[in-house]
Amino acid sequence: MAKTIGILTSGGDSPGMNAAVRAVTRAAIAKGMKVIGIERGYNGLIHGETRELTERSVSDIIQRGGTILYTARCLEFKEQAGVMKAKDKCIELGLDGIVVIGGDGSFRGAADLSAAGIPCVGLPGTIDNDIQCTDYTIGYDTAMNTAMEMVDKIRDTAQSHERCSLVEVMGRNAGYIAVNTGVAVGAIAVVVPEIPITTDEIVEKIMKSKATGKKHFIIVVSEGVGHSEELAKEIQARTGIESRATILGHVQRGGSPTVRDRVAASRMGAYAVDLLEKGIGNRVVGMKREEVIDVDIQEALSMKKPFETDLYNLSNLISF
Ligand code: ADP
Ligand code: F6P
Repeated sequence: MAKTIGILTSGGDSPGMNAAVRAVTRAAIAKGMKVIGIERGYNGLIHGETRELTERSVSDIIQRGGTILYTARCLEFKEQAGVMKAKDKCIELGLDGIVVIGGDGSFRGAADLSAAGIPCVGLPGTIDNDIQCTDYTIGYDTAMNTAMEMVDKIRDTAQSHERCSLVEVMGRNAGYIAVNTGVAVGAIAVVVPEIPITTDEIVEKIMKSKATGKKHFIIVVSEGVGHSEELAKEIQARTGIESRATILGHVQRGGSPTVRDRVAASRMGAYAVDLLEKGIGNRVVGMKREEVIDVDIQEALSMKKPFETDLYNLSNLISF
């Protein structure tokens, strides 16, 4: 009998989630499967907020940021009773499996639901790129490109006023967006949680470069370190260079996904359908060296992702 699969987006939205919803829907329909879109993450699963997705209901979304399925955080699902309610709903809807697009938290939920007997496959959807088992998460590239474009605009003012501009980027507790943006904009310093840097060191870098004629400065600060306003005040007080902080915020989560995000979402989405077609659940799909792979969810959650220390060092080597 043809299978029916569900799909939901959970946790923070990220650009490319729609491309993943489209890929999953189309790949499943191409295999003769039926697809049920579940709205508002695990909330919609518990409360039965669902609608069938056809080939046409995912038309015209590949280029759109956000998620047409809406997303939410669902506390009820963190309790076993919530998982059981969701399982009953899956049985009622005739779901043979679910594709969960989200981050670590969403995958913990997917593991619980898999353990309860509903095969779930996770697709990494977060701008933070902080999921251990994959080199790449859907939305990361778009977010970095947005951050880079925003810093380029801020730089015009920094250059005109001969200022120091600190730009705080997202990434939760991870500095991946910060270090890549920092290299891409030629920041004089990158402040990330993974590698401590003191204010003394930052001030010294600025003063050394100033002595060679450098007149404006960009510092990229990861939100995992934060305090960019205070750091700006301190830098101004100690260098005499007028300093300003800008917190980029949710602008980084929006917008049309880049080629990289659309292609990664399409490849991983189709792969997730292949797994569910075979009845395989409790897996997270990821990318390793440009290959699509899958990993056991518990294993995926227990892995440690190394920081891009080489890139951080490169930033220091060539920005002065
Ligand atoms: P992300 O998936 O982006 O990491 P969250 O951590 O907010 O985002 O998790 C999204 C949702 O996943 C939560 O609202 C909850 O429904 C579910 N979830 C998170 N952690 C767990 C957990 N430990 N057990 C079960 N479900 C969880
Ligand atoms: O995980 C994505 C992310 O944008 C993080 O970079 C940030 O720390 C967090 O979500 C913000 O969450 P919210 O939109 O709930 O404020």
